[in-house]
Amino acid sequence: MNPFYVGREFKRDAFIDREEETKEVLKIIKSSNNVVLYAPRRFGKTWFAKNLEEVLKTEKINSMWIDMFSTVTVKQFISRFNQEVSLTLKMNLLDYMKKYLSDHIASFSINIAGTNLEFKPSSEEEIWEVLFKTLTAFQSKSNEKIVIFIDEVQEMVKMGEKFEGILRTAIQHQSNVNYVFLGSRKSVVEEIFFQKAHPLFKSAIKYDLSRYLPEIETRNFIIKSFEKTNKKISSSAVDSIITFSKFHPFYVQLISSQVWDYKDKIESKDVESCVSNLISQNEYFFQNLIENMNSKYALSILKMISSGEFSYSADNLIKWEIRSPASIAKVIKNLEEKEIIIKVDGKYFIEDPLFETFVKKI
Ligand SMILES: Nc1ncnc2c1ncn2[C@@H]1O[C@H](COP(=O)(O)OP(=O)(O)OP(=O)(O)O)[C@@H](O)[C@H]1O
Ligand SMILES: [Mg+2]
Repeated sequence: MNPFYVGREFKRDAFIDREEETKEVLKIIKSSNNVVLYAPRRFGKTWFAKNLEEVLKTEKINSMWIDMFSTVTVKQFISRFNQEVSLTLKMNLLDYMKKYLSDHIASFSINIAGTNLEFKPSSEEEIWEVLFKTLTAFQSKSNEKIVIFIDEVQEMVKMGEKFEGILRTAIQHQSNVNYVFLGSRKSVVEEIFFQKAHPLFKSAIKYDLSRYLPEIETRNFIIKSFEKTNKKISSSAVDSIITFSKFHPFYVQLISSQVWDYKDKIESKDVESCVSNLISQNEYFFQNLIENMNSKYALSILKMISSGEFSYSADNLIKWEIRSPASIAKVIKNLEEKEIIIKVDGKYFIEDPLFETFVKKI
């Protein structure tokens, strides 16, 4: 079976440890702070946090997970949250409800299997009252510490500011509960947590996870995965996978996975063929991406970035026939907002390494 994996489900066997980041985030949690982990899409936030959950388990720290993307309404949030807490406390749902939400039990229905909760509030007011009780139930009745992961936190805006306000009050009431928020749209995450007017302003420490995978571990992971599935790969082919994927978690898995499927004995030219195939499959999408920028300078600036020549200098303006530094700044802003490019250690990179290869080629 292909040892490489691309998908939503966390697979421990295909996980490359980000030890340093795990240590740092763990430190933040242990100092009783909330943390917001952000990075562009597919940078490995969910996998990082799923692994962190396992680390917490070994330290006997409880955790639970809520995904805001698939949680559509506040009522659904309340139902899911309570279900998750009851699982964390290893309590039967009905017993849990009787113990923690006895005043509102008539507004909930539990399925016959006792696994699913549905909240049918009698009034709008009851929603907010129950939301607060839900968020603080754990605190009021338990001395154990719990870490609550809220994935796709940028989706929280759909719940409205009142939701965020209640969450803030709950956070302030709790000393043994820590939140780990995961978000992919930097601008929205900034808005929720770091703009003064927002209820959740400064309620979490930000941690930028737009970091590439560690070099040695990634290389070893690729080599070992081929070895253990009895396939041969030359060291120059491993180098090629690294060159094309740039240590970006998603692309390490994607390219390796294609290469694994391609042949039993891999040389670097095979990696090149697989990458070319992936690029042709995405060509239409890549072209659209450039066209939708609506700027005649978009491609030049992307090319500048991909060749490591990005600057606002006069020489560069002449070379690329760009009118002014302001024209560059405008395109850069747009590219950053769309997360087509990201800034790592003060330098711009094209986020998707396949798109970068495409840009270099045209
Ligand atoms: N540490 C890792 N080691 C190996 N592969 C990884 C790692 N992290 C992520 N991946 C790969 O990248 C893919 C995307 O990771 P993940 O779903 O965690 O990203 P994400 O940042 O949560 O994305 P999204 O913003 O879309 O939710 C995974 O399916 C997996 O193939
Ligand atoms: Mg995710």
